[in-house]
Amino acid sequence: MKALKILVLNGPNLNLLGTREPDVYGTETLDSIAKDLTACAETLGGVELEFVQSNAESDLITRIGETRGAFDGIIINPAALTHTSLGVADAIKAVADVVPAVEVHLSNTHAREEIRHKSLSAAGCIGQIMGFKGFGYTLALQALVKHLRS
Ligand code: DQA
Repeated sequence: MKALKILVLNGPNLNLLGTREPDVYGTETLDSIAKDLTACAETLGGVELEFVQSNAESDLITRIGETRGAFDGIIINPAALTHTSLGVADAIKAVADVVPAVEVHLSNTHAREEIRHKSLSAAGCIGQIMGFKGFGYTLALQALVKHLRS
């Protein structure tokens, strides 16, 4: 069985996890989330992960566009760009015919300020997981792999 290649993309300010508003986002760092995801991928078997974090909208758009033919799926937390970036939303839709994406948020954005209630990017994704802090990424990986293997 060919390994599934999954790109894990994190947007602006998620490099600051651990110290960034821990009451909202939890105390896990992006590195510890990556370790948990890697352990989950090993348990699932046949799953390869690549991790990218960028504070730049254009980097994220470029990386999403480059997944066609190179990756089988995307896990993405677009962070603040969730609510503002038509470019990220369009990029997800542009590859969605062959590269399904799952959107993750550490916090329950619906329980926060109104500006965070709307996700532009979620419409192009197969699903969205939010409110479970870092564990949401593991849930997203399990869901995405199940989707890809069914
Ligand atoms: C976030 C929610 C966004 O509203 C916020 O701008 C973030 C993180 C989350 O994971 O809960 O940076 O995407």
